[in-house]
Amino acid sequence: MRQKLVAGNWKLNGSLAMTRELIGGILDGMGSSGGVEVAVCPPYVYLPLAHSLLENAAVRLGAQDVCDQDSGAFTGEVSAPMLREVGCHYVIVGHSERRNLYGESDELVARKFAAARRGGLVPILCVGELLEEREQGVTEQVVARQLDAVLDLEGIGAFGDAVVAYEPVWAIGTGKTATPEQAEAVHAFIRERLRAHDPAVAEGLRILYGGSVKGSNAAELFAQPNIDGGLIGGASLQAEEFLAICRAAG
Ligand code: 13P
Repeated sequence: MRQKLVAGNWKLNGSLAMTRELIGGILDGMGSSGGVEVAVCPPYVYLPLAHSLLENAAVRLGAQDVCDQDSGAFTGEVSAPMLREVGCHYVIVGHSERRNLYGESDELVARKFAAARRGGLVPILCVGELLEEREQGVTEQVVARQLDAVLDLEGIGAFGDAVVAYEPVWAIGTGKTATPEQAEAVHAFIRERLRAHDPAVAEGLRILYGGSVKGSNAAELFAQPNIDGGLIGGASLQAEEFLAICRAAG
């Protein structure tokens, strides 16, 4: 039985005040989200504050990105050991905004995935196709290529200690959610592809859906057999909406 995970990706949003208010609101309302694992991923600079606010709470902390190197002359980068030291459990790697706006290749994402695990973090590996790729009917090839880059570098065993998030790029921040059937089809494909390498790892892997998830559409997505929770953007910036999604996963 895979425990559902709902993670909030705040992206480039927030302030010290908002971090206090949003985490306070989530903790105040958390009582009723039983059985679901919850995580928040604020911008780097708010991680220490978030960590202190989450002390003794059942909400885990994650970062939104990580350097593929552990230390050295890499100006502007933040390493996995640093993230671990400020209390992170998870780190998102390969978000489509990193891939498409900042040119991160499949190979760089795979190295970030490796760096996260080396540093004791659990990577949340994002995969997903662009609108034109879906229209060309190559969704599965794209997702397979993104997965294979990590499999080639790290092997299937690494997925025993990781999370995958399927985020169709056309559904991110557009209000256009994949239907539960569209999402389930890709989630099942991801699990099948990994099952060919190791059935037990594939069965235990949590595969989250991301892309315009809201309180009103979360339950039908999470009811699909291969959807094990969500990676939430816009709706994770409002405590009530985020809590509604967490309850939908319960
Ligand atoms: P939205 O929920 O705003 O569509 O963003 C999804 C996402 O990119 C989460 O990582």
